[in-house]
Amino acid sequence: MADTSKAELYDQLAAQLSSLLAGECDLVANAANFSSLVFQTLPDLNWAGFYFAKDGELVLGPFQGKPACVRIKLGQGVCGAGAAKCETVIVPNVHEFPGHIACDSASNSEIVVPLLKDSRLIGVLDLDSPLIGRFDSADRDGLEQLSRILVDASS
Ligand code: SME
Repeated sequence: MADTSKAELYDQLAAQLSSLLAGECDLVANAANFSSLVFQTLPDLNWAGFYFAKDGELVLGPFQGKPACVRIKLGQGVCGAGAAKCETVIVPNVHEFPGHIACDSASNSEIVVPLLKDSRLIGVLDLDSPLIGRFDSADRDGLEQLSRILVDASS
């Protein structure tokens, strides 16, 4: 995918997501529809979903893909790194990321986007791909835009 077409795809996804979440403020319901929309629309994913921040750790939320580990400590794995830094983390090759938590042996690259509400961490969005180097700055920008739509729609 060229960057322009990726940006267009994310713009279309943003419009679809806004319609899908319109009138609903339940975070779990909205995260469930978000993960389905993204998993069905973006190419080359084997996992798409959420971990929510609870009592100082990340707890599995709605997702699409194979069953995953339920609890991740802040700072642990790619999800914990994104949560601890409150910054998007792109890992081109998970096998080279110290402490990567392998939930699906098909995963080769990963992106984690923090969900921030009023500057407070409420969780992370996590996408996995079987392709090495699947995620780039266009995915970061697009997924941060989608995450803001989710956070703004949900209480
Ligand atoms: N790989 C993640 C764990 C979650 S799964 O990919 C669904 C990590 O290292 O944090």
